[in-house]
Amino acid sequence: MTGRGRFVTFEGIDGAGKSSHIEWFADLLRKQGHRVSVTREPGGTELAEAIREWLLSRPMSMRTEALLAFAARQDHLERVIRPALDSGVWVICDRFTDSTIAYQGGGRGIALADIETLERWVHPDLQPDRTYLFDLDPSIAAERRRSARAADRFEAEQQAFFVRVREAYLARAASSGARFRTIDSEKSIEDIRKILEVDVLNY
Ligand code: TYD
Repeated sequence: MTGRGRFVTFEGIDGAGKSSHIEWFADLLRKQGHRVSVTREPGGTELAEAIREWLLSRPMSMRTEALLAFAARQDHLERVIRPALDSGVWVICDRFTDSTIAYQGGGRGIALADIETLERWVHPDLQPDRTYLFDLDPSIAAERRRSARAADRFEAEQQAFFVRVREAYLARAASSGARFRTIDSEKSIEDIRKILEVDVLNY
């Protein structure tokens, strides 16, 4: 494979089930002959993983949250995402800037324009080629989370928080044009994989 790699992101509220598809999706791409790197946000570098620990566990203001998310993102872009894409590797990222729009914007209440200013500063030239938004009713997502491990600072939020996060995701998807594919997370794993399998042939 030659040329620039594709940048694919997975998004959704906690409990929507995106993470169970990422490794499978990466294997699908590898079988098609692509070189693939799987990574996540916040995280993906030593520094960004340290920032992740703080973000998920320490009390802080919403502005600090947003700035730390972008600080982690800057390091991740410099050291991992951009070099991989430039060398032809496909990057599959569990969350990216759409998460900041949804969680710090929709969830916490930071003005969209302020997050977009940070977005233009950190990656004016780069957006995902494809974003899969796993969409699920927050009450069902809360049920799914209850059966998983202990809640971090975001997962411990009330349902109203996730209602706002979901709305912000859907608004972002509606205003971002062709890169988004919204997937109904109530579908079976098999049906979701079929959707991904067909869609990946389109970009
Ligand atoms: P998540 O990616 O869901 O990981 P896990 O499956 O291990 O719980 O958790 C990351 C959390 O960080 C998630 O609740 C969303 C939040 N987050 C933000 O609030 N802003 C951001 O910019 C990013 C990338 C994540």
